[in-house]
Amino acid sequence: MNQLNTESSCCEVAIIGGTGLTQMQQMEDLRHELITTPFGEASGPLSHGTLWGHRVVFLPRHGYGHTIPPHKVNYRANLWALKQVNVGLVIAVNAVGVIRRDLEPGTLVLPDQLLDYTYGREHTYFDGNGEPLQHVDFTNPYSDSLRSAFKAAALDANIPLVDRGCYGVTQGPRLETKAEIDRLERDGCELVGMTGMPEAALARELGMQYVCIALGVNMAAGRGSTGIHEEMEAYLSLSMERLGELLKAVLPAVCAIGRGGAESSPEG
Ligand code: HPA
Repeated sequence: MNQLNTESSCCEVAIIGGTGLTQMQQMEDLRHELITTPFGEASGPLSHGTLWGHRVVFLPRHGYGHTIPPHKVNYRANLWALKQVNVGLVIAVNAVGVIRRDLEPGTLVLPDQLLDYTYGREHTYFDGNGEPLQHVDFTNPYSDSLRSAFKAAALDANIPLVDRGCYGVTQGPRLETKAEIDRLERDGCELVGMTGMPEAALARELGMQYVCIALGVNMAAGRGSTGIHEEMEAYLSLSMERLGELLKAVLPAVCAIGRGGAESSPEG
């Protein structure tokens, strides 16, 4: 793997936006930075700025114009670019469909596990390029300390947050068939989305702590009573509002973790 300087003890916090989050409207003191990576172009320039007084870096994974489909996102370049500006903590926002029958669209979920159904994506930095191979520990794909910070902040601020869930990552860009969702459910998936992988694994390979906030914007195929697109339209803005409240509540704790230093342990 091409080496990066990861010596610094403090690290920056990044937010990777998904569908519905191509800009962080509340960010101030914006500065844009285009990073060149050995893996090609990231989804756009990084946006540096402050969010409710906290320094963050923002990157929309589908691009600022929401034009990059899930299978064409350059996940390796995105994570590499963030690492290059000393990001050690990543908050990934993903719009998902809800498979679990007792949850409603509009729900925010903090997944603790994932199942990867994607294919053909550049999914590793250990690509036989002469660097010593590492098989990163991915038993728990999301950072325990970031998940704990989110749970505590949601509890304190009285923001509803489902504190676990298994995220099934499909290839897209089409939505799933009912039979595919039934299979995902039998496999143990409770949410379905298209962008959770390889992002989480690449962050782990780079030693970054990574957490996913899944916004349930529709019931998955065959689960809802209205059309999927109608549901997405109806629930995306509600989910964004809830996400904003959650981020505002959690950023002080996440930034404090960042000031405590970046971890490169398998915990991520
Ligand atoms: N399936 C896959 N990805 C999604 C969905 C869905 O139902 N909703 C939002 N992203």
